[in-house]
Amino acid sequence: MALSRRAKEVSPSATLQITAAAKRMIREGVDVVPFGAGEPDFDTPQVIKAAAIEAIKSGFTRYTPTTGIPELKEAIVKKFKADNGLEVEVSCVIVSCGAKHSLYNALQVLVDAGDEVLIPVPYWVSYPEMVKLAGGRPVPVVTRAADDFKVNASLLKKAVSPKTKVLILNSPSNPCGVVYRKEELKALADFCVTHDITCISDEIYEKIIFDGIAHVSIASLSEEMKKRTVTVNGFSKSFAMTGWRLGYLAADPAVAKAIANIQDHSTSNPTSFAQKGALAAFTLGEDFFAGIKKTFQERRDYIVGRLDALKGKLGYKLPEGAFYIFLDISKTGLDSFTFAKRLLEEKHVAVIPGAPFGLDTHVRLSFATGMETIKKGMDRIESWL
Ligand SMILES: Cc1ncc(COP(=O)(O)O)c(C=O)c1O
Repeated sequence: MALSRRAKEVSPSATLQITAAAKRMIREGVDVVPFGAGEPDFDTPQVIKAAAIEAIKSGFTRYTPTTGIPELKEAIVKKFKADNGLEVEVSCVIVSCGAKHSLYNALQVLVDAGDEVLIPVPYWVSYPEMVKLAGGRPVPVVTRAADDFKVNASLLKKAVSPKTKVLILNSPSNPCGVVYRKEELKALADFCVTHDITCISDEIYEKIIFDGIAHVSIASLSEEMKKRTVTVNGFSKSFAMTGWRLGYLAADPAVAKAIANIQDHSTSNPTSFAQKGALAAFTLGEDFFAGIKKTFQERRDYIVGRLDALKGKLGYKLPEGAFYIFLDISKTGLDSFTFAKRLLEEKHVAVIPGAPFGLDTHVRLSFATGMETIKKGMDRIESWL
């Protein structure tokens, strides 16, 4: 059976591949340190589970409106206003099956065959593949470690062309925990306005930011920017709801309507009772997020201390958000796949190669795992090096 060109162009997810190999070893009884995980290690909060269970018990198990139940969309509108300073209409909010799905839908409605999408490097592995699936051309914009891996208008100007349609921004970022400040975002917003480019702003790690740094949504900077931004967020990372598959976006009315049409003919609504769980998630206050931030920040600080003790054998940029640290392995002389494969096979530590994130000189280490495991993993890495 002949596969479509589209299917052949898409690469398998490297993150999922390594995690699968590590999980297989764990099943076989090997004591693997899971530094590959892309999900929080804590359980979904009880209040969320209880709401979903109650929804199932009460028979809330049928189709809902395609773009989400009105009460959840209203809660998301409130969240955008309170957390992001963003005023959006309920009709401009679309709830989907994960932020991944929201991003996919956004690219489907914005990108035509041959359109170019600017993607700062290092990037989350799925962006280029999603652009290809929409028929577009991913244009990697290489950033410098010396600039903390941040993209700026001068780098973007070199990459822009008459075919450029979209810029994908991710703050806090996966894989290196970059958090853009307001002034930096203003410069990027000016660039988008000048070149008539739409920004897809992936803010899924919004709640995991360290050192008291504030999250800024690029859409909140001006009315003009709000019109040309699709703001994507979700429940996976903030509420440990990765398996629930719930994400959402806010967009200009025409874009939101087009996304609703696509969702109508593809997945229809996100799971009914999961939406009830998500609604309950909004009852968790800042105390809850403060606890998560503290836990992740302690882990980051511990890892950074251990890396400093290695005296430069592995380089790093201090992550300001998310739960990953992107390690510069160039001094080992290994490419990222060889590094990750050997570390897994020889020391049973799972990290993710940097090549699929656009940088073969790096690997991604996730600290979404308990402190004892982190200590064990860092001991093994140290002795292996
Ligand atoms: C940057 C980024 N965006 C989006 C997602 C997808 O999140 P979700 O589980 O809501 O689909 C991930 C998940 O790893 C991510 O790292």
